[in-house]
Amino acid sequence: MSGLLEGRIASVTGGGSGIGRAIALGYAKEGARVVVLDANAETAGQTEKSIQEAGAKAWSFKLDVTERDTCRQVAAQIAEKIGQVSILVNNVRIPAKATSRSDAWRPPIPIDDDQGGAGA
Ligand SMILES: NC(=O)c1ccc[n+]([C@@H]2O[C@H](COP(=O)([O-])OP(=O)(O)OC[C@H]3O[C@@H](n4cnc5c(N)ncnc54)[C@H](O)[C@@H]3O)[C@@H](O)[C@H]2O)c1
Repeated sequence: MSGLLEGRIASVTGGGSGIGRAIALGYAKEGARVVVLDANAETAGQTEKSIQEAGAKAWSFKLDVTERDTCRQVAAQIAEKIGQVSILVNNVRIPAKATSRSDAWRPPIPIDDDQGGAGA
């Protein structure tokens, strides 16, 4: 039986550890090609390696999701080198009270810490 995500490209923020790593490994198991994004390049690379050792395709990029320009640059690199991403897993939470490192950046949807998540 082929995987549920054959032919898909999935990107996972925070894919270097915890929930994001579990999602990345699980998606790869289902046949997706996985782009692992994390502010920690080392752990992102470890997830990439684990996926490749399991026989699936993966790439990793160092990305801090609060840096808008870097997000754009990495997205362009992914589109050019890997292809069109069809699954976006925005796993990294930006704390509501955190000061953005880019003044131009605003989260695409409101984040409400007190309610346990976006739009709750
Ligand atoms: N674990 C829980 O019960 C729980 C509950 C609610 C929400 N969350 C949220 O879900 C997300 C994942 O949780 P987890 O337990 O797997 O956390 P974790 O700390 O194990 O993993 C988070 C990963 O995100 C990366 N990261 C952190 N800030 C980043 C940034 N600005 N840009 C890119 N990568 C960044 C870290 O390097 C790390 O690899 C977190 O954002 C957390 O706040 C977790």
